[in-house]
Amino acid sequence: MTQKSSRNKTISLTELEIRLLEKRLLTVHSRLNETEVIDKTILGDTLEVIDYLPICFADMLFVDPPYNMSKVFGEASFKRMASGDYESWVRSWFSKTLLRLKPNASIYVCGDWRSSSPLFRVLSDYVKVRNRITWEREKGRGAKTNWKNASEDIWFATMGDEYCFNVEAVKLKKKVIAPYRHDNGKPKDWSEETNGNFRFKYRSNLCTDLTVPFWSMAENTGHPTQKPEKLVAKIILASSKPGDVILDPFLGSGTTSTVAKKLGRHYVGIEIDSHYACLAEKRLEIAEHDRRIQGYSDGVFWERNLNPDASKSIYKKPQLRQLL
Ligand SMILES: C[S@@+](CC[C@H](N)C(=O)[O-])C[C@H]1O[C@@H](n2cnc3c(N)ncnc32)[C@H](O)[C@@H]1O
Repeated sequence: MTQKSSRNKTISLTELEIRLLEKRLLTVHSRLNETEVIDKTILGDTLEVIDYLPICFADMLFVDPPYNMSKVFGEASFKRMASGDYESWVRSWFSKTLLRLKPNASIYVCGDWRSSSPLFRVLSDYVKVRNRITWEREKGRGAKTNWKNASEDIWFATMGDEYCFNVEAVKLKKKVIAPYRHDNGKPKDWSEETNGNFRFKYRSNLCTDLTVPFWSMAENTGHPTQKPEKLVAKIILASSKPGDVILDPFLGSGTTSTVAKKLGRHYVGIEIDSHYACLAEKRLEIAEHDRRIQGYSDGVFWERNLNPDASKSIYKKPQLRQLL
């Protein structure tokens, strides 16, 4: 057996941890009220569970569904289908999920280039589509007869015209390349700090400052399509307030719930695979003691690998007794 490198921070589960964490998962067979579901990971099939969730309880929806491609997720797998069939499948859970959202809720739905069009068609039928965020993921397999697939989309929509958008909370702290000054010598639109010159920039719908989790990142798990915490943090900060409830019906390894907790929001996640649901619970346990989000510190988003203090952070593996 090959030894895991000491720099490999991938979160994994022992048999004992699985037994302990499974006890925290909620299984649902009848209608639940808000207090019963808040801050819970629900183990089950979203298409069945969603009907049992309370009406109008969530302030924000983040959905990262299986994309329209063949992919193995733990014990289960998703099979690529005709675009129209994928659209019907999305419609089957999206319409029901909307009933769980408050009238001023914001909605984010992830997809790749192939899934993006059916997702847009479904969203446009029910909610107000406001934008499409495209994010660059530098991981991706090259192809000899096609362009390498290195971007993904996230549709941004709202239930109505009144919604929360905290533009100031998601500004990017960027290193200044041309430090122009006023005639009096003062910096134009940037500030001088001990570790460099920086400018705050408003967010665009293009994100190129993200790293897909990999083995030396503390947030990494073995989930095949885990989203970066930094990406989810931007969305949660922009579209919710502390104390709000964030719903994710395809939770995977728990990125949405974990980031929600780190940022002082509540969460509800549904995941069909018990191993991933346990990973989510383990990440939530770690977040109990460690609220750091790589690429976001002191209330600021940094350009990739630019935070001068990032190297000082020490990751401590959670002890098993924390799970007892
Ligand atoms: C794209 S992944 C989500 C990844 C997640 N955003 C993360 O950062 O880890 C989709 C997840 O949905 C789960 N899933 C697929 N079908 C499901 C269903 N019918 N109900 C609940 N979960 C489902 C899969 O097991 C998979 O973990």
